[in-house]
Amino acid sequence: MSDQDNDFKIVQSLSGADKRLIRYIPYLLKDLFELGSKPIVSIELLDRALGGLQVDNTVLDLCCGKGANVLQFARKYGIRGIGIDLFPPFIDDAREIAVQLEMQNFVEFNVMDLRTAVTAFRDIDLVIFGADTDVLGNEIESLQQITACCRPGKHILYETATLSINILEYIFTQSGLNIVDSQLHDREQLHEINIYNTEKIKQRAGELKELYPEKSDLFDTYVQAQEDEVKLLETEMISVTYLLQTPR
Ligand SMILES: C[S@@+](CC[C@H](N)C(=O)[O-])C[C@H]1O[C@@H](n2cnc3c(N)ncnc32)[C@H](O)[C@@H]1O
Repeated sequence: MSDQDNDFKIVQSLSGADKRLIRYIPYLLKDLFELGSKPIVSIELLDRALGGLQVDNTVLDLCCGKGANVLQFARKYGIRGIGIDLFPPFIDDAREIAVQLEMQNFVEFNVMDLRTAVTAFRDIDLVIFGADTDVLGNEIESLQQITACCRPGKHILYETATLSINILEYIFTQSGLNIVDSQLHDREQLHEINIYNTEKIKQRAGELKELYPEKSDLFDTYVQAQEDEVKLLETEMISVTYLLQTPR
């Protein structure tokens, strides 16, 4: 894939539709640490299903953004972690936040394409994936490739939004994965997070519009896309995190 295609894929994974946004994404999302993931939900799920993670576990956060998941897992459980993301400004932020949280010796961050990561990593105890991109193919193809990174009988934490739990669970079966446990995201909490995030993005888009009035449409369209997505997530979609087990 060309750099232009990669830019488009990154923007698309962040709910944008215009690759010209790429250079403004760091500013638009400056105030956000969690870019869609809900580490609190995942921690609740891991505690309930596995009694937490063990210090000798290795965790791989695929498409980690600013590292919200893996950094909070390292803090909570003392695990070793690796975060990969294709967007260098997010990896820079993740490394900076790791230092702020004194987690830089626990978690390493690399700029890497998901397609490379699924061939590069093996023997991982827990892989985190947020279903944010289709570069590996459909959901079944993606989960099968991600499974190859895990040790047999180990786990994938899959954060997604779906129209149908039945279809989603059929996809897991077809991928050869067992469902260990799942946690629906609380709608009230989601709503509050969404309001906060949209407000921050709107503020930053407003500042960019003052600096680049000729690009106002570009920023307005991004804000509108965020609002549309939030509406969809809050009305039609079910947001859920699954803990899946790979075949033994
Ligand atoms: C919605 S964000 C989620 C980030 C993080 N999981 C979180 O929730 O905070 C999607 C991420 O996927 C990354 N991404 C998109 N395509 C990618 C690819 N082909 N390889 C690696 N990362 C990719 C983007 O740069 C972005 O950080």
